[in-house]
Formats: sequence, C-alpha cells, structure tokens
Amino acid sequence: MMKTLLILNGPNLNLLGTREPGVYGAQTLAEVGQSCAAACAAQGWACDFRQSNHEGVLLDWIQEAGAEQAAGRVVGVIFNAGAYTHSSIALADAVKGAALRLIELHISNVHAREAFRQHSYLSPVAAGVLFGFGTAGYVLAVAAMAELLRSQGQT
Ligand code: DQA
Repeated sequence: MMKTLLILNGPNLNLLGTREPGVYGAQTLAEVGQSCAAACAAQGWACDFRQSNHEGVLLDWIQEAGAEQAAGRVVGVIFNAGAYTHSSIALADAVKGAALRLIELHISNVHAREAFRQHSYLSPVAAGVLFGFGTAGYVLAVAAMAELLRSQGQT
C-alpha cells in the first residue's frame, strides 16, 4: 500500500501568489501543491495537500494524522501553520499528543522579520524546521522527510 505524506497549510496561505509577493513569491498554492505531488511521487508517496484558515480544522487534521501515522498509512506531516505558528499552544499540544513526525515549514526567513515571528510554539515539537527558501522549501521539506525516515530506520 502506498503511504501518504500530509502537507498542511494554515491561515492566509490560500492567497499565495497575490499576498505580499515580495515576501512569499509568485507561485500559487495550487502550483506548490503540484510540485509537492511530483516530489512525493518520486519518493513513492501519495501527497495529501490541504489548507485551512481555521485553527480547529487544522487541529482535527493533526489529530487524524496522528492516528494515520500510528496505523502506518501516513509517513508524517509537513506543516506551514502560518501565523498560528506564533500563537497556537493547541496545535503544538496536538502534535505532541499525536507523537507526530512533523517538519515545520515557512516560506520566508521568519528570523529576519518582526520579533513576533521569531517565536514558534511548533519548533519544540517538530523533528526539524525549514524556512527561508521561498516556496521551493516545500519540495526541500519532502526530501527532508525522506531523510528523516531513513535516519529513523523507517525505510
Ligand atoms: C509563514 C510565516 C508566518 O510568520 C506568517 O504568519 C505566514 C507565513 C511563512 O511561510 O513564511 O502566514 O508561515
């Protein structure tokens, strides 16, 4: 059975391509999703690429992913939580509670921006964090997930 990599996007990322293109680039979220699907296929994974503006929806998806990972159907999650990164204890608790294999992702270099972007509730519960490579970071994060699985003896 083909395993799935879940790629979750939080608030405002539906506006990719038109939202602050100087910061987030010109690619739309649909285009990023297509690149991720190709990168996942190269690893032999299905790609489940989603976006929500709602914290509770993201929370439900994280909890479900934990169950799917435990059942061996999901390899892990790449999560660009947008601004919830800096505010959501609930999402961090869900990741920890689900013992989820998670890579935190940001398009921009959050450490070169406002001070409030330099704290992440997710980083302590993430296996790794990737930021500052533009939307190309998504494909890099897929490769990083493959490397993580190898390092954990999961392949
Ligand atoms: C972001 C960085 C966050 O600070 C911001 O709120 C976003 C996008 C990024 O991908 O660079 O919405 O996660």
